[in-house]
Amino acid sequence: MQRTSWEKWNGHNGSIFWLTGLSGSGKTTLACGAESELLRRGVRCVIIDGDRLRQGLNRDLGFTEEARLENMRRAMEIADMFLEKGFVVLVPMISPYESYRKQIKQRFGPEDFAEVYVKCSLEECEQRDPKGLYRKARAGEIKDFTGIDSPYETPIQPNMIIDTEKYGEADAINALVAYIESRLNNI
Ligand code: ADX
Repeated sequence: MQRTSWEKWNGHNGSIFWLTGLSGSGKTTLACGAESELLRRGVRCVIIDGDRLRQGLNRDLGFTEEARLENMRRAMEIADMFLEKGFVVLVPMISPYESYRKQIKQRFGPEDFAEVYVKCSLEECEQRDPKGLYRKARAGEIKDFTGIDSPYETPIQPNMIIDTEKYGEADAINALVAYIESRLNNI
């Protein structure tokens, strides 16, 4: 079935929302919160989570620049398949490289793709350290950790910024849902 037929069936257009930010910034939390709310409102959506992909499909990838690009490439291809089915696709993934994020943006174009920068300072992410990984990285037990000894390139022109230091979880999720809905058309 063609994308337009799927979109008619779903009642809305497909669209990709790529959530980039440091580990611990809140990408997955925001995506999960938005997913629940969108499903409740009858929007078809799916999460393609960097951490989750790394447990299975991307188990073979590490954290060199090359591996992270491949990680993003695979996520992008999966996102494309869901886009063809008219889904709202949420992709929480650090995706630290601006040039590659730009390539992804260009591939899909502004109608189908939005870059959402989940903004949170390194200090705050390190303070939160939900998985204890920053502590390990500082202790030298993990190498090439984003923000410590591997770069994170701040998005230059994101479509949306959600500052999770300024806003609490519920407000941040509401803002994301409102933004997503503003990009959906009833079909
Ligand atoms: S990305 O840089 O390739 O986009 P991705 O979002 O898939 O990263 O995975 C990041 C997650 O992997 C982190 O949230 C963390 O749980 C885990 N992780 C393990 N080692 C590293 C590392 N060296 N750098 C960043 N994240 C790591």
